[in-house]
Amino acid sequence: MRSVAPDVLLFANLGAVQLNYGMRTEQALEAIEMIGADALVLHLNPLQEALQQEGDHNFKGLIEKIGVLCKELPVPVIVKEVGCGISERTARLLAVAGVAAIDVAGLGGTSFARVEAFRRERPEEVELALAFSEWGIPTSEALVSTHRAAPQLPLIASGGLHHGLDAAKAIGLGADLTGFAHAVLAAASEGEEPVRRLLDGFAWQLRVAMFCAGAPNIAALHANPPTEIK
Ligand SMILES: Cc1cc2nc3c(=O)[nH]c(=O)nc-3n(C[C@H](O)[C@H](O)[C@H](O)COP(=O)(O)O)c2cc1C
Repeated sequence: MRSVAPDVLLFANLGAVQLNYGMRTEQALEAIEMIGADALVLHLNPLQEALQQEGDHNFKGLIEKIGVLCKELPVPVIVKEVGCGISERTARLLAVAGVAAIDVAGLGGTSFARVEAFRRERPEEVELALAFSEWGIPTSEALVSTHRAAPQLPLIASGGLHHGLDAAKAIGLGADLTGFAHAVLAAASEGEEPVRRLLDGFAWQLRVAMFCAGAPNIAALHANPPTEIK
């Protein structure tokens, strides 16, 4: 990645739960060095692991281990959810542990309950997992409460963002960066050019939203958020 994208912000990504299954600072460092990452992202995905037959279920004491990584690694550590949202209490604990940023990755887009349900073969198991489809904190709520819990931390918004206008709304609610997974999957399966066109369109929508909100730059959008979030 680094050889073709020398100055792009690049994050390594590992499951935080792996810290309870043998992962140490050395392995995290290896993942960082492997791609010349600017930061390490640790994802918290308890629902996904709980619904997996082969899931790792021991999430005990992770906050202390995340704190150790924050101290020992040479790059910033960012923590994220994967579609259920970071709670206010978790955000507070993460801030004290020393994380550099949080991606709230809230409810509203990709649902790993649905993903795991579709991996089950027996209909009754599919039903059991599908009951959790709506589990989580919506992205907008998670953004507001995480910002309240850790006002000094940069925030990334992901989870159900469809386009550049959603990015503008998320920035208005306190996000510094926005992330899209599901919204780019279809274009990504077609190839590089469709992804480029899609993201150029998102950037255009963001500029139009800023223009209409009277915000000449991202900092001003933070200060003049859209008043109604839909
Ligand atoms: C196909 C797919 C793979 C993903 N893999 C990871 C992963 O390896 N690590 C991670 O932190 N999040 C992963 N995610 C979660 C996303 O980063 C994001 O937090 C979540 O999908 C919510 O955003 P969305 O609604 O835009 O999809 C994945 C999402 C999708 C759709």
